Amino acid sequence: MADLSAQDAAARVAELKREAATHAIAYIEDGMAVGLGTGSTAKFMIDALGERVRREGLKIRAIPTSEASAAQAQSLNIPITNFADDPYLDVAIDGADEVQTGSLFLIKGRGGALLREKIVAVSARKFIVIVDESKIVTDLGTHMPVPVEIIPWGWERVENLLRQTGAKSCIPRRNEDGSLYMTDNHNIIIDCDYERIENPRGLADRIISITGVVDHGLFLDITTEVLVAGVSGLQRLKA
Ligand code: 5RP
Repeated sequence: MADLSAQDAAARVAELKREAATHAIAYIEDGMAVGLGTGSTAKFMIDALGERVRREGLKIRAIPTSEASAAQAQSLNIPITNFADDPYLDVAIDGADEVQTGSLFLIKGRGGALLREKIVAVSARKFIVIVDESKIVTDLGTHMPVPVEIIPWGWERVENLLRQTGAKSCIPRRNEDGSLYMTDNHNIIIDCDYERIENPRGLADRIISITGVVDHGLFLDITTEVLVAGVSGLQRLKA
């Protein structure tokens, strides 16, 4: 990919994301309750699912993981359900920011939807992750910070405590105008950069034990299968 222009490279990555997304919707069958992820890869998946609803008359119910994915699903006539009617989902499909080989541990939340994404993922009998090959890492944290969703009140205190978990930096996510970024749940996000996470379970325990933290972007022991689209084809990584 080195000699491609930046625009060509971005188009190629988008193509790989679309490919992973297209394969993933084969998991969805008539009558299923389905979790819909958030982000550019999930967007391709929701488009492809909408196409199956339109062309095949596929009958499904969906719980989207963000207001954006809900709006997209509604625009494609994908019926929306809720946890009162569907406490368990048959399958959830979502993208990721990093996937650790072997463990299939993930970092998620660059798109700010980590909390609903985790609730949906743990409610699904199968959690299918769709990525292009650039997301595969040996050690978590090498490319991406861990987003931590916290309540806005007293956030500086939580930021300070997060720094003490070994992060090289902890930066509150902001909008272009400098205001604090707000999640769909009206919380804020602190992006914590660990450079390399040696003990994801230990780190997850430390982060979640801080009062004021709602959840974090480490998704451990949740993934059923990862579909990785790469230049040499599609790979399936199973837990
Ligand atoms: C959003 C997420 C996304 O799944 C993750 O950021 C991957 O996004 P993309 O498919 O755009 O690369 O966790 O909160």
